[in-house]
Amino acid sequence: MAIPRSEYLSEVWKDGIFSNKVVFCTGGAGSICSAQVRALVHLGANACIIGRNAEKTESMAANIATARAGSRVIGIGGLDVRKVEDLEEAAARCAKELGGIDFCIAGAAGNFLSPISGLSSNAFRTVIEIDTIGSFNTLKATLPYLIESAKKNPNNGTNPSTGGRIIFVSASFHFKGMALQAHVSAAKAGVDALSATAAIEYGPRGITSNIITPGPIMGTEGMARLGSRDAEQSGAAFKKVPLGRYGLVKEIADGTVYLFSDAGNFVNGEVLVIDGAEWRTPGGMGVAGQYPDYLLDNTFQRREEKKPKL
Ligand code: HXC
Repeated sequence: MAIPRSEYLSEVWKDGIFSNKVVFCTGGAGSICSAQVRALVHLGANACIIGRNAEKTESMAANIATARAGSRVIGIGGLDVRKVEDLEEAAARCAKELGGIDFCIAGAAGNFLSPISGLSSNAFRTVIEIDTIGSFNTLKATLPYLIESAKKNPNNGTNPSTGGRIIFVSASFHFKGMALQAHVSAAKAGVDALSATAAIEYGPRGITSNIITPGPIMGTEGMARLGSRDAEQSGAAFKKVPLGRYGLVKEIADGTVYLFSDAGNFVNGEVLVIDGAEWRTPGGMGVAGQYPDYLLDNTFQRREEKKPKL
């Protein structure tokens, strides 16, 4: 069933601004990334979304295509961002079938709640491999096409339609640290550093690289998976956000459209935090030695802390 525009994109954006643009997105079957891509497709882009689950990715691609009649949206499932060869193959297919890659969204992420003592070395490595190395692999696989796009659509201050844009989807956990998220905090700190470096290295070629940091977003799988749905529904968690509510997927999509549109031409190497100022609140998202209130009732994925063998 088609999703009404008002749920994934604000009305301010002009139709057709992304005609002739192609977006490649990892994690594209998830709640946030699918809204980002849907917004771009609504405004004229064609898209290729990548996901682990083949059925979910293909059906999401078909759903996103309903955002604009005549759009082309490819879903490539069964793909793991930890394997750069898979991404290179997917990028080549995207470029062949859709005519290139102008925009890249590196959105695939892995997450679960665990205290440091409950994390094995492999658990920590797994999240680093999905989030940090997966983002690097996505950049590596798409960079040749982004360079080509930036060459054809130069970011020179007068061209009204530029190409060669990257957005990494990150998190704010590492700004202050977050209980039960040591692995994700470390991984996303690496993603932020990768983006900043790409901005400096490839800015001279007209490419922009930026981070979008979503805060708690209503109804996403990530939030449900982290066990905060009850808190979300009861409103208990809202008080942690200065704006008194969770965000909407369309508020992340709007940030994406801004960064990829002409309005974002000169924004490079930045972190756009869309979280209602949640991370700035006293204690941030996890007071020292305690777990954030809204995670306390989560028993879904939490494992017992490992006791030392004495
Ligand atoms: C401790 C855990 C664990 C848990 C897995 N592991 N779950 N350790 N607590 N709850 C350990 C395993 O025991 C294993 O270590 C290692 O991690 C790898 O696990 P696998 O299951 O073999 O890995 P894999 O199949 O690759 O799965 C990766 C995964 C996956 C990260 C564990 O479950 C996943 O990707 N899930 C979440 C996807 C998701 O929700 N994405 C959206 C993120 S949203 P050992 O030592 O036993 O071998 C987001 C923002 C949320 O990030 C913001 C909300 C506040």
